[in-house]
Amino acid sequence: MKRTLVTGGAGFIGSHLVEALVAQGRDVLVFDNFSTGKRENLPDSNRVQVVEGDISDKSHVERLFRKFNFDTVFHLAAVASVAKSVENPEETHRTNFDGTLYLLQESVKHSVVRFIFASSAAVYGDLPELPKKETDPVKPLTPYAVDKFASERYVVNAFELYGLKTTALRFFNVFGPRQDPSSPYSGVISIFVDRVIKSLKGEDAGITIFGDGKQTRDFIFVKDVVKALLLVERSHDAVGGVFNVGTGKATSLLDLLDYLAKIAGRLPPVHFAPPRRGDIKHSVADISALRGLGFSPSFTVEEGLRVLFEWERENG
Ligand code: NAD
Ligand code: UD1
Repeated sequence: MKRTLVTGGAGFIGSHLVEALVAQGRDVLVFDNFSTGKRENLPDSNRVQVVEGDISDKSHVERLFRKFNFDTVFHLAAVASVAKSVENPEETHRTNFDGTLYLLQESVKHSVVRFIFASSAAVYGDLPELPKKETDPVKPLTPYAVDKFASERYVVNAFELYGLKTTALRFFNVFGPRQDPSSPYSGVISIFVDRVIKSLKGEDAGITIFGDGKQTRDFIFVKDVVKALLLVERSHDAVGGVFNVGTGKATSLLDLLDYLAKIAGRLPPVHFAPPRRGDIKHSVADISALRGLGFSPSFTVEEGLRVLFEWERENG
């Protein structure tokens, strides 16, 4: 029996992908070490099997591929925090680079049909050209970005060198339900929404902005990222390629606060702190290549924020 492997499937983006795969009637294997992922993120379905393990444990990855037969590998497991990678480059490297290499090697060896890798907009760094095109020069500024770029090259080259049908997707800033707000390294929208809801409940919560709040990101709702992952899997034209996954729209942190004030009625106190080391000022995607495969985002940032806000109020 063929299964679809989702590494990092218990995480934020991975769990939404698993849900969509199950809805397509597919059998999914989640390989995750639960460092940030959670079992309760996963749908309760007999189509989902979970193996707890670390992608940087080479012999465990080898055993996994010997035991199961995979059609597609969606490789999403990573230390996803840029700031965490700056504090702990060695641990990040083992997961974000070594782990990718082991998965690629096993996918070649066991003739996996499709291999799709979650890269990142972080590879572009702070070069001034905007919006970012896949053909632009890159300037990875952090251990996270260096490992994503190196992995991406291995992923893409595996098609040329070994015929493994690979695609690397450069996700911009993804947000939505189940993004964990509990660490200072969590995605900014998850933190802001969490603090707004806490303050509505009367809890003592404030928002911190690192820098002046004018920095921009291309925030994409998680359901649109899943749409891109599934589209790319089916697309012959995506094989051997690198694609941006965003909306093409830039939103500043101050814009986010305006939207949230509109949605929630009021905001908690906002503090300003110095910018983070290695932080990028502006980031927005040119998504014409992905559009060329038939993609268009279904959610604006404001629409996604409304969905997230309601979800957090009910489940958070
Ligand atoms: P997440 O932290 O929620 O998910 C990562 C998952 O990988 C977690 O379930 C975690 O437990 C697992 N994991 C981490 N190290 C592992 C290891 N060594 N072995 C096995 N499992 C491991 O983060 P996310 O936001 O869902 O990110 C998913 C992917 O998308 C990551 O590769 C991330 O770099 C990439 N990405 C995310 C964003 C974003 O804005 N969230 C943007 C660009 C790229
Ligand atoms: C995010 C992703 C990273 C991805 C990259 C792609 C997370 C945790 N990180 O990194 O995986 O590869 O997008 O573009 O999802 N900020 C505040 N206050 C806070 C938290 C953050 O002001 O409480 C600021 C940060 O300094 C930064 C901006 O918000 O300027 C965005 O930060 P963050 O959500 O951590 O995302 P990136 O660093 O862009």
